[in-house]
Parts: sequence; C-alpha cells; structure tokens
Amino acid sequence: MVFAAKNAEIPEWGKKLVEVEGQSILLVKTKGAVYALERECPHQGAPMEGAFLKEAGRISCPRHGYRFDLATGACEDRPEFTLRVYPVELRGDDVYVEIG
Ligand code: FES
Repeated sequence: MVFAAKNAEIPEWGKKLVEVEGQSILLVKTKGAVYALERECPHQGAPMEGAFLKEAGRISCPRHGYRFDLATGACEDRPEFTLRVYPVELRGDDVYVEIG
C-alpha cells in the first residue's frame, strides 16, 4: 500500500488526480467512501477526471456516459469494458492505495 493523498483533500462527490509511483490515479469520493481508479476510460480513453458522479458508488464517463461501479470497475452499459480499480485503505486521514 502506498500513500496517495489526505482524505480531506478529496471533496465529497468529487475527485482528485494524484501520481502514485509514476501512475496517474483518480481518487473519488461518494457518500464518504473513497475509491481509486485508472485515469482513462477503458472504452476510448476519455479522461475520467471529467466524469460525472450522480449516484453513490458509480461514475459516468464524460464522453459516452457509460456507467462504472466504483468498487468493482464493472460497466453496466457495456460489460465487455471494465474500469481498473485499486484497493483503498484509510489510515486516519491518510488514503493508501494498492496499485500492484
Ligand atoms: S470513452 Fe468512456 S464511455 Fe466511451
């Protein structure tokens, strides 16, 4: 697990792009839960920092609107695409991610 950010730096219903071991990782928070995911949409590579957060635990790509489960990365609209997500652990106010 690698330190990624302070929890307080990630706005509720918001995102924060960080660099962890040379990789761009997008941190997302909905209803207090923090998720870590790859920056690029697995469909056609749209930058997910522009994605929409309308429901807890889900993110919608800004380009074609495909919805992904933030916990599993599964795409509800096109199951052949899976968003890469990373395990997250909160240690006090610190957010750690496992990017393997
Ligand atoms: S690029 Fe994300 S849904 Fe098409």
